[in-house]
Amino acid sequence: MKFCPLISLFLSLILPSWSSEPTPTPTPTPWPSQFHSTLMLNTSVGTLQINELWYDWPNGRNLNIIYKQLGEILYDVEWNNGTSYYYTLDGQCTTVHFPVGIPRPDFLDGANYLGQHHKDGFLCNLWEKAGFIWYYEDVLTKRPVAWDFYSGMTTQVMTFEVGKVLNDSSWQAPVYCFEDAKLKQDHPLLESITFWLNDKCLASGV
Ligand SMILES: *[C@@H]1O[C@H](CO)[C@@H](O)[C@H](O)[C@H]1NC(C)=O
Ligand SMILES: *[C@@H]1O[C@H](CO)[C@@H](O)[C@H](O)[C@H]1NC(C)=O
Ligand SMILES: *[C@@H]1O[C@H](CO)[C@@H](O)[C@H](O)[C@H]1NC(C)=O
Repeated sequence: MKFCPLISLFLSLILPSWSSEPTPTPTPTPWPSQFHSTLMLNTSVGTLQINELWYDWPNGRNLNIIYKQLGEILYDVEWNNGTSYYYTLDGQCTTVHFPVGIPRPDFLDGANYLGQHHKDGFLCNLWEKAGFIWYYEDVLTKRPVAWDFYSGMTTQVMTFEVGKVLNDSSWQAPVYCFEDAKLKQDHPLLESITFWLNDKCLASGV
C-alpha cells in the first residue's frame, strides 16, 4: 500500500507506536574477545563436571580445565591453527588436529530466535542453531546463562568475567605432549572434544 507523504506524516503523528517499525528479532550477543567463565555441565550420560573456560580470541586460543566429579583434572588447550592438546598432569596427553580453529566470537550468527524463556531463574532470549545448540542469554545483561546440546549435554554459566586473560605460561602444553604420551581411549574427555568438533564444523559451515 502506498500513501502520499502528508497522509503518512499524519498517520505517524496519530499512530506513534502502532505505525513504528516492528521490534527487530533479537540476535545473540557475540562472545567477548577474551573472558573467563566457570561452567557447570551435565553430560549426555548424566555425569557432572565443572569447566574453567578461558577464551582468548585475539591470541587464537581457548582453554578448558575440566573437573570431573571426584575425578582427575583434564586440560584441553586449543589453538586456532587447528591443533588441540588434551592432557592430565599425570603424563597422559593426546593431540588432535581440527580442520578449523576455535569458535569465532560470532559463532551463533544465523541462529533461529525462539522467543523469551525462563531459565535457572533468569528471563532469557533463546536461540537454536543447526539443531545442535540451544543458547540462553539473559535479556537484561545479555550474558549467557546456559546452553544445551542436541546430545543432551547441558551447560550452566556460573561466572562470566569479560576481559579476564590467563597468562602466557599457563597455555604451554607439557613436554610429554611432544613425546609418546597417549590418553586412554575410554577417557571421559570425548564429550568436550565432540562439543568443540561439532562447533568447529558449524562455525566453518562444514
Ligand atoms: C543430569 O542429567 C540427568 C539426565 O539428563 C538427570 O537425570 C540428572 O538429574 C542431572 N543431574 C543434575 C545434578 O542435574
Ligand atoms: C599450532 O600452534 C601451537 C601453539 O603455538 C603449536 O604447538 C602447534 O604445533 C601448531 N600446530 C600447527 C599444525 O602448526
Ligand atoms: C602465571 O600464572 C601462574 C599460575 O597462576 C603463576 O604461577 C605464574 O607465576 C604466572 N606467570 C606470570 C608471568 O605472571
